[in-house]
Amino acid sequence: MHIVDNIENLRAILETVKGKSIGFVPTMGALHDGHKSLIKRARLSTDFVVVSIFVNPLQFGINEDLAKYPRQVREDEEICNSLGVNVLFLPSEDAMKTLTEDTTLVTPPVSMMSVLCGKYRKGHFQGVATIVTKLLNLIRPQVAFFGQKDAQQVAIIKRMVDDLFIGVKIESCPIIREDSGLALSSRNQYLTPEQRREARALYGALNCAYGAFLAGERQVNVLIDLAREVLEQEPTIRVQYLEIVDPVSLQPLQTIGEEGLMAIAAYCGTTRLIDNLMLKVK
Ligand code: PAJ
Repeated sequence: MHIVDNIENLRAILETVKGKSIGFVPTMGALHDGHKSLIKRARLSTDFVVVSIFVNPLQFGINEDLAKYPRQVREDEEICNSLGVNVLFLPSEDAMKTLTEDTTLVTPPVSMMSVLCGKYRKGHFQGVATIVTKLLNLIRPQVAFFGQKDAQQVAIIKRMVDDLFIGVKIESCPIIREDSGLALSSRNQYLTPEQRREARALYGALNCAYGAFLAGERQVNVLIDLAREVLEQEPTIRVQYLEIVDPVSLQPLQTIGEEGLMAIAAYCGTTRLIDNLMLKVK
């Protein structure tokens, strides 16, 4: 595995793999089984796998956890090596040109970044879209792999790639969960054992709504109320939003036709967790 921290070396290595299909997995590190599932998928479906680790300052708000975001590069290197990653790209902020605010930014459609998480994390999706564009332009993969865990992110990236003719296939991969149902996240390490137990209510709420959906319920307000009741059983959990939206446009639905994306953000102590489930007849 090549470990590369500068753009010149990255380009030189990529020059040698012309003709092979490149699979790309962008991450912010602190790799867990969720990230690993994306890397394994890339390994299976492309010839040459590039993983990036870059804690992107552009996507963190001023009151967010940039400084304390978990960093464990040695462990991450071992994980990538053991999964057969070809290039681990660890650029500096200098290399990615994120040190100055006076730089080119990519702005996703307002309709998509002003809903769900975007409503509470101003500038976040602009930061994500900007860094992902830079990385895609550098690596020029055939396929880039994203987790459905961040459903809004993947919907925005798909739309951006289409709008800007970036010429990469975006593959959305299933959410990996603990046995308890809690979706894996680098931020789970902030949770106390008690909070970790309470946090199971997020998936419990989504599943409760899904059960009603499968039984024929299509009214969004009814499904939301059912999920909210489950969350209310854990009084320490503070819901930020609980919505059902169209999974492609991310616009709110009143009733579900083909499918609806049910998405939650909630605080467990000071840790903000997100989760979602596609309400769709199999
Ligand atoms: P990060 O949070 O490190 O996540 C990297 C990728 O792993 C994302 O596509 C995310 O959706 C996926 N992922 C995280 N938890 C997952 C889980 N439990 N199951 C499946 N996939 C999971 O998302 C980012 O980084 C950044 O915004 C990034 C795209 C790298 C841009 O900076």
